[in-house]
Amino acid sequence: MKTAVRKQMTINPVIMDLLNDQIALEMKASASYLAMASWCDQRELLNSKAFFYKQAEEEREHAMKIFTFINDNGGAAMSPEIHNVNNDFDSLRGIYEASLEQEINVTESIFRIFKSARKEDDFVTEVFMQWFITEQSEEEDTFRSILDVFDLMEGMPLKMIDERLPKE
Ligand code: FEO
Repeated sequence: MKTAVRKQMTINPVIMDLLNDQIALEMKASASYLAMASWCDQRELLNSKAFFYKQAEEEREHAMKIFTFINDNGGAAMSPEIHNVNNDFDSLRGIYEASLEQEINVTESIFRIFKSARKEDDFVTEVFMQWFITEQSEEEDTFRSILDVFDLMEGMPLKMIDERLPKE
């Protein structure tokens, strides 16, 4: 009986690997947003700088949610190495476009985990991932709305556009 109880508590290894990859992806997103925040900070784009500092924190929180989930479910969460963080940007609009692209990649990765959890009958992970699906939908929507502002205000001074953008 004891063994059976222990077995149920142990996370599926296939899913654990996917979740560890997701931690790395979220931490990479956090590092990318920090680089973007710095670019905005250097140019006194106040709303965008606040927005990206906040995004950097939020992505770290996402990574930590998964990190503790793995360990709480009998697995081994791995602290990831983060490589190739881009610190070189051409424009504010380019930063938001890159952000949307990054979020779309994160969403696709989350869908893959969700599907795999379903396939493996890992109901605990499936339910856990639902929060991330909702979160991704909101984040993608935020970036799309911001890009709409750029379209509407095309040709306006950058600081004026920044003032119309959300701080968080
Ligand atoms: Fe946690 Fe927006 O990816």
